[in-house]
Amino acid sequence: MKLLVTGVAGFIGSNFVYHMLEGDPALVLVGLDKLTYAGNYDNLSRLTPDQRDRFSFVRGDINDRALLAQLFGQHDFEGVVNFAAESHVDRAIHDAQVFLTTNVLGTHALLEAAARAWRSGAGWLAGRRYVQVSTDEVYGSLGQQGFFSERSPLAPRNPYAASKAGADHIVQAFHHTFGLPACITRCSNNYGPYQFPEKLIPLMIRNALRHEPLPVYGDGRQIRDWLYVRDHCRAIELVLRRGRPGEVYNIGGHNELENLELVRRLLQVLGQRTGDPAIGEGLIRHVADRPGHDRRYAIDAGKIQAELGWEPLTRFEGGLTQTIDWYLSNREWTERVISGEYLAFYEQNYAARG
Ligand code: NAD
Ligand code: TYD
Repeated sequence: MKLLVTGVAGFIGSNFVYHMLEGDPALVLVGLDKLTYAGNYDNLSRLTPDQRDRFSFVRGDINDRALLAQLFGQHDFEGVVNFAAESHVDRAIHDAQVFLTTNVLGTHALLEAAARAWRSGAGWLAGRRYVQVSTDEVYGSLGQQGFFSERSPLAPRNPYAASKAGADHIVQAFHHTFGLPACITRCSNNYGPYQFPEKLIPLMIRNALRHEPLPVYGDGRQIRDWLYVRDHCRAIELVLRRGRPGEVYNIGGHNELENLELVRRLLQVLGQRTGDPAIGEGLIRHVADRPGHDRRYAIDAGKIQAELGWEPLTRFEGGLTQTIDWYLSNREWTERVISGEYLAFYEQNYAARG
């Protein structure tokens, strides 16, 4: 199988590359990434020589139609997985323009390129699949009860979520209007290695290690459903290989936690692992709430479990400890992604060679 995967230098995309190349020795993967502030080529530096032989990296924008046409012309892709996105809610609140450009228009450009390459006379080449990696945030916010199912109406409440919902609508339109064999996955909050330290868990780990305040928005009672990133990757692979075209699959961890409770557990593990007495709840600071902050997300993952046999394998306690250990062993990674040092290294050592 030959895949085009976008956003491979980001958090989930890089984990997906490792997951796929480790699991399938016959798989060949082309990774496309613009290397924005959130994308780091170094995230892919742990590929084994065999995996590296089956992987090629292209720096580029999913909005670059000429580049997409060139890639689809060079390679007979059987699958496309689109992770490329602007992904941080707080940045979208500050300025949504690039969210619309990448998440909505970029998805459209990719769909057009796949449709053009896979159309064959009146039909479609057999066995192709486009997977759009979306989010539970497109469903909006839940009250105290209930879960998002695939039938829940789309009701995004912040510009990031709205841009992802817009992309989902275009993917579904390409399926219904043209028959493009596309699936959408909508996942809850991921955690694990290689997550950019602006998101809750890696940000709190970094601040605590530096004895800096931990900013908890509002009362900290907002609820998220946390899923270990490799469990998400397994789900995406199943949808790619066996998902029914036109279908949406929700993916969740059955693991709801209030933000404040999550931060307390994180501090407990981090305190134990480091033996640092300064790491404790005294670092927590309640700060102004995020505008339009969604109160609760929770996923009903019954459909993907029933149809594709998927369920999360990583329990939160183990996953959190594993994640904290990774960040402790990779403290220089955190500083380098923040400073942009990895990007400068990429530009000096790789980009010039083409
Ligand atoms: P991320 O921000 O860590 O990575 C995004 C990657 O996309 C980066 O490598 C970036 O360089 C690349 N990119 C951005 N704009 C691009 C463009 N125009 N062309 C090519 N590449 C571009 O994001 P993530 O957390 O890995 O999320 C990946 C996908 O999963 C996103 O679509 C996101 O909406 C979705 N998702 C994330 C979560 C989560 O908890 N992180 C949960 C559900 C869904
Ligand atoms: P985040 O990791 O940004 O993911 P999302 O907004 O996609 O759910 O935030 C997770 C939760 O943590 C969310 O309720 C906002 C909250 N949060 C804080 O309280 N403080 C912070 O500094 C950040 C980044 C997030």
